[in-house]
Amino acid sequence: MAVDLLLGLQWGDEGKGKIVDVLTSNYNIIARFQGGPNAGHTLVFNGMKHVLHTIPSGIFHEDAVNLVGNGVVIDPVIFKNELDKLATQDVDYRKSLVISRKAHLILPTHRLLDAASEASKGKAKIGSTLKGIGPTYMDKTGRNGIRVGDLELDNWKEKYRALANKHESMVEFYNVDLEYNLEELETEFFKAVDVLKSLKFIDSEEYLHQALRDQKSILAEGAQGSLLDIDFGTYPFVTSSNTTAAGACTGLGIAPNSIGDVFGIFKAYTTRVGSGPFPTELFDEDGETMGRVGNEFGATTGRSRRCGWLDLVALRYACQVNGVTQLMMMKADVLSGFKSLKVCTAYNYKGNIIHHLPYNVEPENVTPIYTDFEGWKEDLTEMNNESILPNALNTYIDFLEKELQIPIKIVSVGPDRKQTIFR
Ligand code: GDP
Ligand code: IMO
Ligand code: MG
Repeated sequence: MAVDLLLGLQWGDEGKGKIVDVLTSNYNIIARFQGGPNAGHTLVFNGMKHVLHTIPSGIFHEDAVNLVGNGVVIDPVIFKNELDKLATQDVDYRKSLVISRKAHLILPTHRLLDAASEASKGKAKIGSTLKGIGPTYMDKTGRNGIRVGDLELDNWKEKYRALANKHESMVEFYNVDLEYNLEELETEFFKAVDVLKSLKFIDSEEYLHQALRDQKSILAEGAQGSLLDIDFGTYPFVTSSNTTAAGACTGLGIAPNSIGDVFGIFKAYTTRVGSGPFPTELFDEDGETMGRVGNEFGATTGRSRRCGWLDLVALRYACQVNGVTQLMMMKADVLSGFKSLKVCTAYNYKGNIIHHLPYNVEPENVTPIYTDFEGWKEDLTEMNNESILPNALNTYIDFLEKELQIPIKIVSVGPDRKQTIFR
């Protein structure tokens, strides 16, 4: 069997959580491969909304194993909060949730370092979610990190103390106003670590290889989006992990030739939360409408998301970097009622027309070139079949498929599990 990948093609929040939930019944194992509690994956079913940060989005399906991979960074405090919420929903997570020993831990001082770093940057700040993601991955690549497997060692608290002390002096070095009570943060942290330790830790790469030998089906769940990738995103306004397909190999220990389908999720328009360039961003009524109708507020931080037209230059780039085999277009319903729509098909880059994502995408270098489309008025949210979609939407979809040369297999017309049209 192969491992299928599901990942976001824009700047995150494409609707990955919803689609993983929809697809889970086809898989034995759902495995998160990178990111941490900077992610907010929303699932809606039976009239209830659930937001997951670190726990894979297959957790509501009794028969699936949900695996937190080595590429993920875990904040025990946030993880415990997620578990507590699941317990109130009667989810038997002890049976279905396993954690890689090689996943790194976010310490309270990583969060402080994130805050201090952002404060010191002033206007140039990344707009980080302040969950400690950057500092934790820095400690991972700097070979200082503490991993889940360390919690099984007797001396892990000594290692913790040494690292936390170092972080404290680093926070001082930033010389910014930051009020905190480390003792309180640590009490909460150690309590949460005890809960984490009651879960099943595994050698996840071995577990997944055995699963493949046993003909089990695996879906790898990405977090963030391709344009936030540490290498291929709009650096430095990115996250600190590889959000693209290659990240699934390093974040789970699976080989490239074990990968089957690559499902690329995108919104019918574009959003971004945090700082950084966004060529098709709208500052007018259309952008305001997308934000309002699409309820574009961050699932993790509650910040309002910036909105704009679909950017095919960026989308083509993301499809290429990931080797996308099937596309899923989300939030088509949000575009109902627009008289006309625009899709960016090329950039005017310093006076030349280009079709690829250049090194500099700042507004002073790039002006989007648009193709116009007729809008549609129909409410899509009750539609459940491809055959009844409005003609104008079909024209929009056909155009994207032709431009990207990849089939759009799902059109999502609402947040609920059921509001999903298969093509
Ligand atoms: P993720 O991070 O990629 O999982 O996406 P988020 O959960 O952060 O953001 C997607 C938001 O859009 C959530 O509030 C979803 O409930 C919602 N959503 C997902 N698909 C659709 C859709 O087709 N239409 C509408 N209107 N909302 C959707
Ligand atoms: P999901 O999985 C949208 C953005 C932050 C910030 C930048 C760096 O829900 O799609 P970080 O905290 O990672 O250091 O922040 O990345 N960001 C996201 N934006 N969706 C996410 O995850 C994000 N995770 C991080 O807003 O601009
Ligand atoms: Mg999200």
